[in-house]
Amino acid sequence: MSGTPETSLPSTLHQALAALLGPSGLLTDTTDTAAFCTDWRALYHGRCAAVLRPASTEECAKAVALCHTHGVPMVPQGGNTSMVGGATPDDSGRAVVISTTRMNRVHSIDHADLTMTVDAGVTLKAAQDAAAAEGLFLPLSISSEGSADIGGVLATNAGGNNTVRYGNARELALGLEAVLPDGNVLNLMRRLRKDNTGYALRQLLIGAEGTLGIITRAVIQLQPAPRARETALCAVDSAAGALELFSAFRKQDPAAVVAFEFMSGTSMALVNRFIEGAGLPLSEPAPAYALVELSSPRAGDGLRSLMEDVLGEALESGLVSDAVLAESETQRNALWMLREEHAEAQKRAGASVKNDVSVPLAAIPALITEATAACEALIPGIRVAPFGHIGDGNIHFNLVQPEQMDAAAFSARDHDIMDTVAEIVRRLGGSFSAEHGVGQLKTYMMPSWRGGAELESMRRIKNALDPQGLMNPGKIFPAA
Ligand code: FAD
Ligand code: MLT
Ligand code: ZN
Repeated sequence: MSGTPETSLPSTLHQALAALLGPSGLLTDTTDTAAFCTDWRALYHGRCAAVLRPASTEECAKAVALCHTHGVPMVPQGGNTSMVGGATPDDSGRAVVISTTRMNRVHSIDHADLTMTVDAGVTLKAAQDAAAAEGLFLPLSISSEGSADIGGVLATNAGGNNTVRYGNARELALGLEAVLPDGNVLNLMRRLRKDNTGYALRQLLIGAEGTLGIITRAVIQLQPAPRARETALCAVDSAAGALELFSAFRKQDPAAVVAFEFMSGTSMALVNRFIEGAGLPLSEPAPAYALVELSSPRAGDGLRSLMEDVLGEALESGLVSDAVLAESETQRNALWMLREEHAEAQKRAGASVKNDVSVPLAAIPALITEATAACEALIPGIRVAPFGHIGDGNIHFNLVQPEQMDAAAFSARDHDIMDTVAEIVRRLGGSFSAEHGVGQLKTYMMPSWRGGAELESMRRIKNALDPQGLMNPGKIFPAA
């Protein structure tokens, strides 16, 4: 069947879309559409009638209006790095994927307002680079930034490594433009820090995972570029130790801490085993690690002495058993690589189950201890490999299959594992999804976690904007 469409668009719609989007804007051949129908984790294998690749808001709006008229479901897609199958169509083959990758212009950078006006399809990395070229800084940073794009990070309200200082994607978006499910364009491209004129509709689109419309442009808030930066990898004995170290840095200078990441010994060992070029720059492996980065827009801002003071005391008290400070940008990149390759290493290690959870900071040690015991009791030999953004209370409590277990048999236990971890998270006052969203993987959790008036209000908003349920069906909401 390779090369021939498995499903097809109604012919009048096909003709109209072909005329609107041209050959590079409309893909129907399965060899071209296949990559858009599976996710980064290869958990979902959907099908679609076509992939639409509009090159402008206007084209996107017209294409959406046509699909709306024909009752065709639409799945917005950016870099396709979702961890929860959010951008993957179901296997009915009825939907079209609407990819933003051709809407990829950085329009302007404003030095007075410290903002960037950018299309949804600009990758986060390209947007960061454009800001850096103007001596500015886009503080959102995630390991998938080379592929994830502005529309995707806003649609998922991405968090990442710098949230501890600058907040989630939501906090960075001053303005937004989106195509609503009926093809109308919602233009909210104001770049105002103060604007209390009714509902903040842009915040509704942000984090909606493409269920309310397609984000096409945004105004992103920038920062002055850092001119001083210190990065260290520290060996600690536990998550509790990492938290104590975080507290020590915050006590000295909360504004200086730009990232504070946790890695368990098990997850770091997977990076060293599966990632070429990875190597632990410490004398021996430790039970756990903290990666800390300090930064300031002022050169020579005393960050080195802050780092040395806090680490000196921590080494003396035994809180930290060993530490390495980056002495160059190359060394800094090598330290960050050990953190950023965690997801890739776990993927290579076999089947895994991800629990992207958050709890109040003080509850993190209990989360790790209790969830470790519960998962080990559930599946003997399971590899408990937690890591993540500990400074935000966000741990990726990820579990990798036992070495000898069949991958499919392990994956079949995913709900048992997720539910076991989720119950502990619930008791500790946390959330079952801190940054990856709900997608299609976690819709089944919504009634018990967000039921009652909360889920009902979400449904009413969804029905008001998308009464036919055409925009990203099967995501966030469990089947009624
Ligand atoms: P996609 O995967 O294409 O889509 C994600 C969701 O957004 C889908 O529901 C889709 O329908 C919707 N969508 C996409 N574009 C639009 C649009 N223009 N308008 C409306 N809806 C849209 N996430 C974090 O938060 N923090 C991390 O630290 C992090 N690290 C990651 C590391 C790796 C290695 C990987 C693979 C993923 C990681 N993620 C992380 C998850 C993922 O990268 C983020 O959710 C990212 O924001 C998704 O962006 P994307 O462009 O790939 O979106
Ligand atoms: C990350 O922070 O690297 C990803 O969000 C984590 C994951 O693989 O679960
Ligand atoms: Zn993360």
